[in-house]
Amino acid sequence: MDDTEPLASRRNWDPMVKLTHWGIVTAVVANALVTEAGSGAHVWVGYGLAVLLALRLLWGLIGPAEARFSAFPPSPRRALAHLREIASGHVTRHASHNPLGALMVYAIWTTLAVVIASGIAMAGLPTAERTGGRESAQPAMAGSSGAGDEEPATPGAAASPDRAADEEREEREERAGHTAVPAPRDATGQAGPARDRDAAGATARDDEDGEAEEDEREEGPLGEVHEAAVNLLYLLIALHLAGVIFETRRSGREIVLAMVPGRR
Ligand code: HEM
Ligand code: HEM
Repeated sequence: MDDTEPLASRRNWDPMVKLTHWGIVTAVVANALVTEAGSGAHVWVGYGLAVLLALRLLWGLIGPAEARFSAFPPSPRRALAHLREIASGHVTRHASHNPLGALMVYAIWTTLAVVIASGIAMAGLPTAERTGGRESAQPAMAGSSGAGDEEPATPGAAASPDRAADEEREEREERAGHTAVPAPRDATGQAGPARDRDAAGATARDDEDGEAEEDEREEGPLGEVHEAAVNLLYLLIALHLAGVIFETRRSGREIVLAMVPGRR
């Protein structure tokens, strides 16, 4: 706790950093605690989360100096140096995230990206039909490039899958003994049997994109990826909060206040 600067010791996060931070926090908390996993609300909150993350990443390129990636490069070497600094009791003031915090920020963003990509791969991208709600079993767009990115893995898969449809699908998968064709989750849950009629799961709308069929079979594994990433996210959040508390006590800086909207 040497090197104290009683005044002006606070960071200056711009409104965009604050907005995206608390927006992301709200979306994560909503999807973790409030919305039903896989429900329409869950997916819509998920799209919002995707937009917020995209905004923040864009801001990392074009925002003010302390918000830019260049202000907090991911550097294990610098993070180790920071650990040594902690051990020695020395405090250096950083205009942006400290090197250890920077690694945590990139880890959280990467994990969020996996959560979002796997979620969207299961649910599909928002479409005009989807905003219409329940009758959304329409082709979203062709050209899905497969799982793992944010393309629509399941064109037309509904954004409003209800739990009953999901359970019905899970039961079918269990009976089939492998990651069988999931029901197109069109809220009514009616399309499942239609799917069963066609063992390959190829419906008219899938015909225009052969990959859709393949991707749908991957929904099981995608769900597991989603869940594993979410669990990793919870761990990182716990470490993040511990880090924020630790850094506040260690440096004496009001780093939480620096994140509060309206404070500069
Ligand atoms: C940090 C935010 C999120 C959290 C905490 C979260 C959490 C969860 C959890 C715990 C499940 C249940 C997993 C399972 O039982 O397999 C789930 C399922 C699901 N999530 Fe998320 N999720 C988040 C973001 C998203 C996003 C961004 C999307 C897509 C836009 C999404 C779409 C889905 C879908 C479609 C399912 C249903 C999976 C299935 O039926 O097997 N989620 N989510
Ligand atoms: C869902 C929970 C949370 C997630 C996913 C999360 C994620 C993040 C991320 C990604 C950043 C980097 C911000 C940026 O550069 O854009 C950050 C920074 C920060 N977060 Fe959180 N956060 C969470 C909850 C919280 C909470 C509850 C607090 C307050 C107690 C908090 C306090 C902070 C502070 C003070 C910083 C700035 C750290 C610094 O000055 O280097 N976070 N958080």
